[in-house]
Amino acid sequence: MTSALFTPLKLRELTLANRIAVSPMCQYSAEDGVANDWHLAHLTTLAGSGAGLVVIEMTDVTRTGRITPGCLGLYSDECEAGLKRAVSAVRHWGQAKLGIQLAHAGRKGSSHKPWNGSGPLKAGEGAWQTVGPSPIPFAEGWPAPKELTTPEIEQIIAAFADAARRALRLGFDTLELHGAHGYLIHQFLSPLSNKRTDEWGGSFANRMRLAVRVTEAVRAVWPKEKPLGMRITDNEWAEGGLTPDDAVALAKELKTRGLDYACCSGGGNLPKPPPMAPGYMVEYAAKVKREAGIATRAIGMILTAQQAEEIVASGKADFVALARGFLDDPHWAWHAAEILGAKAQVPPQYARATIETWPGAKIVRPAKTA
Ligand SMILES: Cc1cc2nc3c(=O)[nH]c(=O)nc-3n(C[C@H](O)[C@H](O)[C@H](O)COP(=O)(O)O)c2cc1C
Repeated sequence: MTSALFTPLKLRELTLANRIAVSPMCQYSAEDGVANDWHLAHLTTLAGSGAGLVVIEMTDVTRTGRITPGCLGLYSDECEAGLKRAVSAVRHWGQAKLGIQLAHAGRKGSSHKPWNGSGPLKAGEGAWQTVGPSPIPFAEGWPAPKELTTPEIEQIIAAFADAARRALRLGFDTLELHGAHGYLIHQFLSPLSNKRTDEWGGSFANRMRLAVRVTEAVRAVWPKEKPLGMRITDNEWAEGGLTPDDAVALAKELKTRGLDYACCSGGGNLPKPPPMAPGYMVEYAAKVKREAGIATRAIGMILTAQQAEEIVASGKADFVALARGFLDDPHWAWHAAEILGAKAQVPPQYARATIETWPGAKIVRPAKTA
């Protein structure tokens, strides 16, 4: 049996060993944006997961662009040095290619870590002034962000380009921009959070301007042989909010600016959870791929090897990304390969755990019920 999921994927000059990515996942464990031993251990483990690509968590381009005080940043020499240590370990010990997701949290910044409740920080808890397209709070009880002026928006675009330069020095294989989950680029795109009347608001072309300008600025410093992606919003599941057609229009526009793939997501701009079910956003990746003619990555409750295989084999998406599946089972891709009769890359130190290197010594995993 040949598996579509375990065929290589070429994006510009980057070849991934298979179509499985570890989705970016905030660890809320940095200090002033600087990565530490947690990131080193976490990323080195995931780089041996068998996935073709590991994307480092949402990494913020300014200090005030962080969600929480524990979020990773790439806005200082210290941030760059901290990541250098983790990236070197991944390169030395791991097999996966490495990407990083650059972001600005906008009005969702200055908040508690999830395990401390996720709500906004109060004065005395290290709160900072957040920014956004319009002074509309994320939710009841949240402070209103300061409405950004055009020079301030230009500074943020420049900060994305600076962070991309640092990412390039660190040797990342691919770079992703966060245009979803209610963070700054998404806040500008959505008519629910952007009520501006200048060139950054109003028409869809104006609301797209920040996404377009950031893509152009980053593409200008990111080499042409390396791919650039964006996580986009395909649905806000809200009256008057962004729709799958808006996602197609955005992807088409960004493709002309040098974007290579769209990771199709949704929700996050309102304090209301999306209607989650297995594969609930796969259809968006298929639509964007078909109608915008750009490579896509499907995400969202992709739970089984067979489900991931079907998504790629049927051409709905070029690759898939899983988040919680890899937290639960950091060797998810080895196990998917086993089920699909394919081979995943395994660190030599762990090879004895795989069936083909020690066929007589069967391993039985604790059984799960659905
Ligand atoms: C712990 C955790 C942290 C996350 N952090 C990020 C992040 O930094 N950037 C992002 O775009 N999505 C983030 N997400 C969303 C995931 O990347 C993913 O898209 C989502 O969990 C759905 O995939 P899943 O059903 O495979 O978990 C996070 C999810 C989890 C569980």
